Amino acid sequence: MSASVQLPPLPLLLITTIITALFSSTTAAAAAPTRYHPFKKIYAFGDSFTDTGNTRPPSGGGFFGHVSSPPYGSTYFHRPTNRYSDGRLVIDFVAQSLSLPLLPPYRSLRGARNNGGGANFAVGGATAIKHAFFVKNNLTLDNTPVSIQTQLQWFDESLRSQGCDGNTSTAATAACAAAVEDALFWVGEIGVNDYAYTLGSEVSGKTIRRLSIATVTNFLEGLLKRGAKKMVVQGLPPAGCLTLAMYLSPDDDRDELGCVKTVNNQAQVHNSVYRSKLNGLRARYPKASIVYLDYWSAYRAVVRSPGKYRMKEKFKACCGSGDPPYNFNVFATCGSPGASAAAAACPDPSRYVNWDGVHLTEGMYRVLADLFVNGSFSTPRFATLLA
Ligand SMILES: *[C@@H]1O[C@H](CO)[C@@H](O)[C@H](O)[C@H]1NC(C)=O
Ligand SMILES: *[C@@H]1O[C@H](CO)[C@@H](O)[C@H](O)[C@H]1NC(C)=O
Ligand SMILES: *[C@@H]1O[C@H](CO)[C@@H](O)[C@H](O)[C@H]1NC(C)=O
Repeated sequence: MSASVQLPPLPLLLITTIITALFSSTTAAAAAPTRYHPFKKIYAFGDSFTDTGNTRPPSGGGFFGHVSSPPYGSTYFHRPTNRYSDGRLVIDFVAQSLSLPLLPPYRSLRGARNNGGGANFAVGGATAIKHAFFVKNNLTLDNTPVSIQTQLQWFDESLRSQGCDGNTSTAATAACAAAVEDALFWVGEIGVNDYAYTLGSEVSGKTIRRLSIATVTNFLEGLLKRGAKKMVVQGLPPAGCLTLAMYLSPDDDRDELGCVKTVNNQAQVHNSVYRSKLNGLRARYPKASIVYLDYWSAYRAVVRSPGKYRMKEKFKACCGSGDPPYNFNVFATCGSPGASAAAAACPDPSRYVNWDGVHLTEGMYRVLADLFVNGSFSTPRFATLLA
């Protein structure tokens, strides 16, 4: 289905800067048991839902250029870390539950020799489809010129810094093996921005689906060719449950959970095509394990029964303008001077699903990480990677 939300031009402009993510809690993972597992490091890829600090807003910022300002980071880090949340992201909880360090953003490591400890290549605003496509269609606005292919180039840079430089010498071959063999490859959600940037444009949702899935599949194959053996791939979240989507859409465009139906259907169709591509990769790379994480269903489980997950607000943003009913206004987003109070965050972010209108709270990311790693929203189960 190629449904796209009918939007006036202004929101189109605004939405392009928006989709990029983090969250928080008071319980550190100090208590996490150091069970045996095969991973010495993680390489992560994706957009703002996975970015642990690769975005630096250009001076002047965009509509979501406030990620470097309080109250971003207020819950766990007690300072902004350029994560798009009040605290930790899914990838942070996963790292902690594997007793690995939180992933450094690649841009902070760049130039230095990689110490072999893994890195996060995800960037807020990143797309699946290459930037030139958006340029060609006059849809660049001020989005980040980073695509998943750029992240593969950064990964190659990182491999070179570890001595895996394309040389066929024994040393280089050994360095390549060392760089990848004990690594978990985490490919976070990617593609929400591609749809968002083209909303209301001439480019159809169907075109975006075809191009973005082809590009990401190619990217995944690139990782497999470089020796990735254990890989986790997230599907698209139900973006129609995000505060921004609710705010922009007509009231009659709703599904049975009260989220934006056209947007959620689009994500669901995308995921089913994506999963069939993963099956193709599994057949071609039988020695690799590829785990699919069903972001769409895990998120919807929380929206369906918020109380079960100790959530109170499923649609209202925790940090925003104060405007009812969503505490959201594109002209006064979280952390911006226009937001209602200096802090502008709700007193109990862990009870909110949504942090700033687009990204999720640490509380929600904690719930999702648990559903992915310990729950039933992974195929095959995440635990199969730990053997
Ligand atoms: C993009 O904008 C340029 C200049 O306004 C115009 O000539 C061109 O036709 C536009 N391209 C598309 C695909 O809309
Ligand atoms: C490969 O490594 C060998 C040994 O270190 C070196 O002599 C040679 O120049 C390298 N070749 C390339 C193409 O980098
Ligand atoms: C999975 O469950 C274990 C045991 O309860 C817990 O320590 C760990 O933090 C959980 N993992 C995630 C990612 O929530």
